[in-house]
Amino acid sequence: MNFDIIFFTALISFFIVVASYDYFEFKTGVPTFPTMPAVPAVRRRMIEILKNDMETRKIKSHSIIDLGSGSGQLLWHIAKAMPKVRVVGVELSYIPWLRSVMRQRLFGPANLRYERLDFWPYDVSGFDAVITYLPGKIMERVGEKLNKELKPGTMVIANGFPLQAGWQPYETMTVRVPFKMKMFVYAKS
Ligand SMILES: C[S@@+](CC[C@H](N)C(=O)[O-])C[C@H]1O[C@@H](n2cnc3c(N)ncnc32)[C@H](O)[C@@H]1O
Repeated sequence: MNFDIIFFTALISFFIVVASYDYFEFKTGVPTFPTMPAVPAVRRRMIEILKNDMETRKIKSHSIIDLGSGSGQLLWHIAKAMPKVRVVGVELSYIPWLRSVMRQRLFGPANLRYERLDFWPYDVSGFDAVITYLPGKIMERVGEKLNKELKPGTMVIANGFPLQAGWQPYETMTVRVPFKMKMFVYAKS
């Protein structure tokens, strides 16, 4: 193939990818940045907390949702570590969602599913645990949504930014990654 065609195809693809990320960041007000996939400390701690919760509450068919799952790396590790749990990622932005789906199709695991959806109208009442890594400016609205929909006892892990709208964490952890990253753990009252 002609070098010029390859070059222009690569250039156009690059601009489409960048435009798509920018469009969805503009639409949701949230950029796609992952929970430090290169630093396992955060996800290891998160998996530990989720497993403890599952054992403590003796839930038979546990389910976890990540609101805004980005490219899906965090959830992929969680689903692999907890194969009996139903794990769902909801993401609006096409390219990160597509990356998640491709990784899941190629490498599993079977208990993991990604939906390309807006999480605001998505009913989360059927889940036993919710994970977020969303910026502070939308955490009031996220808190209100979870207040309305979650059943008592549901665990919420807010990574980086605390829930607002009256939520009080029962545990706040600082994980060094090497900078300090906070995790807030809640149970719906
Ligand atoms: C900071 S990333 C977090 C990714 C992942 N949860 C993690 O911890 O690695 C937040 C993601 O939320 C998505 N998002 C924001 N608002 C959304 C909405 N209303 N519906 C679905 N996804 C949304 C953004 O597109 C972005 O990819």
